[in-house]
Amino acid sequence: MKRSIATLIGLKLWLMLVFATLFFSSSAKPVEQVASAAEATPTPALPDKTTRKTSEPFTGDLSIFEDPARDKNLQIDRVMDLLGIAEGRTVADIGAGSGWFTVRAAKRVGKSGQVFAVDINQAFLDHIAQRARSEGFVNIRTVLGKFDDPMLAANLVDAVLILKTYHEIAEPVVLMKKLRLAVRKGGLVGIIDRGGNGEDHGLDAETVMNEMKQAGFKLKGQYDFVKPDRMDYFLIFE
Ligand SMILES: C[S@@+](CC[C@H](N)C(=O)[O-])C[C@H]1O[C@@H](n2cnc3c(N)ncnc32)[C@H](O)[C@@H]1O
Repeated sequence: MKRSIATLIGLKLWLMLVFATLFFSSSAKPVEQVASAAEATPTPALPDKTTRKTSEPFTGDLSIFEDPARDKNLQIDRVMDLLGIAEGRTVADIGAGSGWFTVRAAKRVGKSGQVFAVDINQAFLDHIAQRARSEGFVNIRTVLGKFDDPMLAANLVDAVLILKTYHEIAEPVVLMKKLRLAVRKGGLVGIIDRGGNGEDHGLDAETVMNEMKQAGFKLKGQYDFVKPDRMDYFLIFE
């Protein structure tokens, strides 16, 4: 009697083992399949080449950038304070135009500092070089950039200002990725622009923030003091 009870218990345990093996082997497979299916379809990375509209680069009369009210309206001293532009620093002015900001930054960084005026328009760079000579600046260098490359050496600058230019940059993410290499550790990049759809000489701040993030920059600050009508924004990235 005892032996047949023991045989029955043994048989029951064996059956339980068989069921458990069958259950776990059949329920484990789909999990593995789901996992490998998920691995096979990674989130596609956004392309660096832009698909949005950009504005035609400015080629007009440079005197429009020299409005005497601009210093006060833009609060350019406050802009430079926030970008840490001080004696001895190295600064880049991307899309320098007439050199309006270049000379202000050059005055602030002094003879121990340097300002790189970057533009894709050689005639504008010639104008800036001539201006630097006539105004006595020895710390200004002009750089012929490309539509997708600021053509600056690695670890060169402490601060960058992109003033009313971002909407004209034909390949913003590609250019910003290259600019990032030129910015020293702890350096800052400021962008001043106005809202728009890209082709109307403005671009909404959100698009700029997304593209800068894609290029590897982190938003550090967001301000709206750069124009009395609050139309323009000032973003700082690190
Ligand atoms: C509207 S102007 C602004 C000039 C200046 N920043 C100012 O506000 O006084 C834009 C300037 O950016 C330059 N530009 C356009 N695309 C550029 C690029 N990818 N790299 C450098 N400069 C660029 C144009 O040639 C032009 O001089």
